[in-house]
Amino acid sequence: MESKVTSNGSASISVGGKEVTLPVLKGSVGPDVVDIRKLYGETDVFTFDPGFTSTASCESQITYIDGDKGILLYRGYPIEQLAEHSSFLEVCYLLLNGELPTAAELEQFTHTITHHTMVHEQFDRFFQGFRRDAHPMAIMVSAVGALSAFYHDSTNVHDLQQREISAHRMIAKVPTIAARAFKYAIGQPFVYPKNDLGYAENFLQMCFSVPAEDYKVNPILAKAMDRIFILHADHEQNASTSTVRLAGSSGANPFACIAAGVACLWGPSHGGANEEALNMLRSIGHVDNIPEFVQGVKDRKYKLMGFGHRVYKNYDPRAKVMQQTAHEVLDELGKHDDPLLKVALELERIALSDDYFISRKLYPNVDFYSGITLNAMGFPSEMFTVLFALARTVGWIAQWKEMIEDPAQKIGRPRQIYTGSPSRDFVPVDKRG
Ligand code: CMC
Repeated sequence: MESKVTSNGSASISVGGKEVTLPVLKGSVGPDVVDIRKLYGETDVFTFDPGFTSTASCESQITYIDGDKGILLYRGYPIEQLAEHSSFLEVCYLLLNGELPTAAELEQFTHTITHHTMVHEQFDRFFQGFRRDAHPMAIMVSAVGALSAFYHDSTNVHDLQQREISAHRMIAKVPTIAARAFKYAIGQPFVYPKNDLGYAENFLQMCFSVPAEDYKVNPILAKAMDRIFILHADHEQNASTSTVRLAGSSGANPFACIAAGVACLWGPSHGGANEEALNMLRSIGHVDNIPEFVQGVKDRKYKLMGFGHRVYKNYDPRAKVMQQTAHEVLDELGKHDDPLLKVALELERIALSDDYFISRKLYPNVDFYSGITLNAMGFPSEMFTVLFALARTVGWIAQWKEMIEDPAQKIGRPRQIYTGSPSRDFVPVDKRG
């Protein structure tokens, strides 16, 4: 990646009476950054920023978020336009390569991904080792990492062609693995990919078809699935993406790095929130119970899952598209009277007019409506984060590739403020206590 950072003056700080001048850098849009790389060398102090609330960890040209305005751009294109006019594979190409493909490039890319969807036959036996009731995310973490044991010929991170093949393999094979994790949990036979189907269509047929019957993918549901994948494809330097970059900074192979991203995504503050949000709506059960539930949130007994975001201090633009998708899916399936949708709409209305949420700028995020939609499509809640991981795989790879190709890249190695014991002498066990 060629750096596009420009200079925008300098900032000075005074540390222990010493004045230090630091460069201020400018990106294309968004806040400037103070370049503190020389601070420790010149002053002997570190900066302290747990949770990275004020720290830009890298230069990136992939995704931009303006959290105050509720804007999300992939390579400059607004998420709403991509969700309406594009397809997931086109978005994958865009994220990986920086530009929208020509018709010929898209055809070639689609052909490549489609023809990498099968996994090694021996890989299927890997699933049999899991308990029947294993969480599908546990299977995902292991199976994605295990790809590095099957595809040795694309693990050399210094080889451009191997990096590209590993990227294509993961985008193509993660749906196959995700569908197998689902089939394994419900005790149905694995279904092979079908090359005449689109990416989302193929995924739905691998999840929902059985050998005993013909299965026709509902085009409205396939379109909705594809759009859900687009909405989740990348999101700047979030926790799992930063995990992928940190893992990759040591030179670890791409399959292992993406497995690290899957592990991080699993947490309920991140990708696990969609599962938690649906569980929450179920536990509320009826609109009459909302005031009591909201009071519990305000009393800090629990959080309103699917609300709030570290970066968005406005309506998450993905949540708007997701709400519309929820309506489309429920209408198509004749479930527009779904009690959970009623609870969600009323909960959103009440929360958005309550001072607790207004003053903290807490708005619905992408997970608020995704659970209802995926549940209506037939996915159990344990699969929601798996679907998020499937879609985010391309974002993780694009970010990983960008990091590897960045000449400024170094192994990620934060420092700390140490508050443990200073140096002391070892005490033999018979002299302790
Ligand atoms: N319900 C109730 N209160 C909340 C919530 C919530 N969902 N989120 C934040 N707050 C409160 C929080 O208690 C704090 O209040 P106070 O200032 O009085 O102590 C204030 O709002 C600021 O919160 P914070 O914890 O400093 O915010 P953060 O930026 O560290 O956390 C978050 C962001 C996403 C972890 C948090 O909003 C949250 O836990 N939300 C619920 C989980 C969720 O929906 N996660 C999905 C995020 S979108 C998908 C993804 O990208 O992974």
